[in-house]
Amino acid sequence: MLLLWVLVMAASALAVLAPGAGGQRRGAAHAWPDAPNVVLVVSDSFDGRLTFYPGSQVVKLPFIDFMKAHGTSFLNAYTNSPICCPSRAANVIIHILQMKTEVQKAMWSGLFTHLTESWNNFKGLDPNYTTWMDVMEKHGYRTQKFGKLDYTSGHHSVSNRVEAWTRDVAFLLRQEGRPMVNLFPKKTKVRVMEKDWRNTDRAVNWLRKEAINYTQPFVLYLGLNLPHPYPSPSSGENFGASTFRTSLYWLKKVSYDAIKIPKWLPLSEMHPIDYYSSYTKNCTGKFTEKEIKNIRAFYYAMCAETDAMLGEIILALRQLDLLQKTIVIYTSDHGELAMEHRQFYKMSMYEASAHVPLLIMGPGIQANLQVSNVVSLVDIYPTMLDIAGIPLPQNLSGYSLLPLSSETLKDEDKFKNLRPPWILSEFHGCNVNASTYMLRTNQWKYVAYSDGASELPQLFDLSSDPDELTNIATKFPEITFSLDQKLRSIINYPKVSASVHQYNKEQFIKWKQSVGQNYSNVIANLRWHQDWLKEPRKYESAIDQWLKTHTNPKNSEQK
Ligand SMILES: *[C@@H]1O[C@H](CO)[C@@H](O)[C@H](O)[C@H]1NC(C)=O
Ligand SMILES: *[C@@H]1O[C@H](CO)[C@@H](O)[C@H](O)[C@H]1NC(C)=O
Ligand SMILES: *[C@@H]1O[C@H](CO)[C@@H](O)[C@H](O)[C@H]1NC(C)=O
Ligand SMILES: *[C@@H]1O[C@H](CO)[C@@H](O)[C@H](O)[C@H]1NC(C)=O
Ligand SMILES: *[C@@H]1O[C@H](CO)[C@@H](O)[C@H](O)[C@H]1NC(C)=O
Ligand SMILES: *[C@@H]1O[C@H](CO)[C@@H](O)[C@H](O)[C@H]1NC(C)=O
Repeated sequence: MLLLWVLVMAASALAVLAPGAGGQRRGAAHAWPDAPNVVLVVSDSFDGRLTFYPGSQVVKLPFIDFMKAHGTSFLNAYTNSPICCPSRAANVIIHILQMKTEVQKAMWSGLFTHLTESWNNFKGLDPNYTTWMDVMEKHGYRTQKFGKLDYTSGHHSVSNRVEAWTRDVAFLLRQEGRPMVNLFPKKTKVRVMEKDWRNTDRAVNWLRKEAINYTQPFVLYLGLNLPHPYPSPSSGENFGASTFRTSLYWLKKVSYDAIKIPKWLPLSEMHPIDYYSSYTKNCTGKFTEKEIKNIRAFYYAMCAETDAMLGEIILALRQLDLLQKTIVIYTSDHGELAMEHRQFYKMSMYEASAHVPLLIMGPGIQANLQVSNVVSLVDIYPTMLDIAGIPLPQNLSGYSLLPLSSETLKDEDKFKNLRPPWILSEFHGCNVNASTYMLRTNQWKYVAYSDGASELPQLFDLSSDPDELTNIATKFPEITFSLDQKLRSIINYPKVSASVHQYNKEQFIKWKQSVGQNYSNVIANLRWHQDWLKEPRKYESAIDQWLKTHTNPKNSEQK
């Protein structure tokens, strides 16, 4: 039934996207009245590799397939920060800029994480920061956003913060519930992630009731929590979010036979930073193959549910005759490891975590085009402005995607050499005990840590080692050296790492003071409580030791 729908839609959309419809009016000082509408759908934790072969074999994603057929898909799109740690405010609809993640800040500000100094997520962008949406509004666009963050409690978020601040402390504690699956056995259960569906409905209603009557173009943003795993209350009061939940309805979209069981390095051969991540995520124990396969299957089923929400938006645009006037963009803030590299969640530069989907379709966008250039989420900002015909500010971290995807711009030489052949991703949050920097080029993935000296870097050749199991950094020292030089020319990463160390310690001290007398009690009862309560004295004194080591702001800034 659904497939039939898609086929019908595909045929009619082909007709509307035929040459002559739409097209870019570049250089227009004002977008209005003839700029296209824009709809941006951003999910949470969607592994980008599912949008192309061979990942696309494992689960049916009809609307992503639709976007691929009628638009341009980016085969090498990356997050600029694979962050976890949901931000503070619980149970309220919060302004999008305080929402969720560093990468959202990068996406909305158009700047790399180190430029907005949003280290570990507790520092939002100023609400008055100029986002692309503000700029578009100023140029005559009507704007609307839907998306809600409410799966975390304030307490949970204290845990995340304290875990991030104390990542330099010499202890190792399990912070997460073991990943598990949970099935709604009803074959007819379609709306599993109800809150996302409600937001999708609100977006559709807005299109039907409001947007349809606008004489100006509009931009609509829909933020989804799926396919992010759900909280696991069964693992105690201060739970993590490690339950992959779906229904039989969605599980049927997954081909079990196509699910790959990821290879793992033995614990003793893991990179020390990876070991810290696996350990704090409670994944260093034994997992059966069946357990891993199930976690992956459930995750893919959650991706299918996400695709259906994207589908609701596309169908509504089609029904309202807006598809031929609207550019639709789908992406995700980061991926999900789903037990690759002995981990779940993200916070890692491995493909499953850092590679995101990125698809664009609409008037003037090439159909059925696959672009292999490396691109990243900071490109969203300039792309939005470019779509609206608004001149780009000079100092953005990203580049418009239109020269790679537009029918009219694609072959224009003047755009060819603008975009650099690399992207940068960085991470400074919890579950990783050193600031991490990834430089991704066409062939290589280079990952450097901390000050560049205290931990070995990683180098992967993604063409010969797509599973990233063989670190060849020491085997190819010249390549490692030149990539490291390149990385340092983009970001003074030892200095950024030092600032983060400093920030973490200061924040921790402030928090400790604010808790006062109750400190021992509170810290023992965060998400790591199962481990902490075995030897509370030992862990407290490890923190005291860490606080005593020299902290000289001037020294660390100058490093
Ligand atoms: C945003 O507002 C804060 C105070 O509310 C102010 O300190 C800051 O400079 C403002 N930022 C911008 C970019 O206007
Ligand atoms: C870690 O996993 C084990 C089972 O392997 C479980 O008993 C324990 O509760 C988990 N720890 C946390 C903090 O959830
Ligand atoms: C939108 O236009 C339709 C008719 O085209 C009208 O029935 C409806 O009331 C309008 N809605 C709003 C919110 O103005
Ligand atoms: C990170 O944690 C691992 C595991 O405890 C440890 O071996 C490594 O030295 C730590 N690295 C840093 C930079 O703290
Ligand atoms: C970028 O440029 C604009 C003006 O062109 C300025 O207001 C803004 O502060 C700059 N941002 C950064 C991070 O340099
Ligand atoms: C102290 O912390 C514990 C554990 O978080 C909490 O249950 C208790 O209410 C706190 N007491 C005070 C006085 O804040």
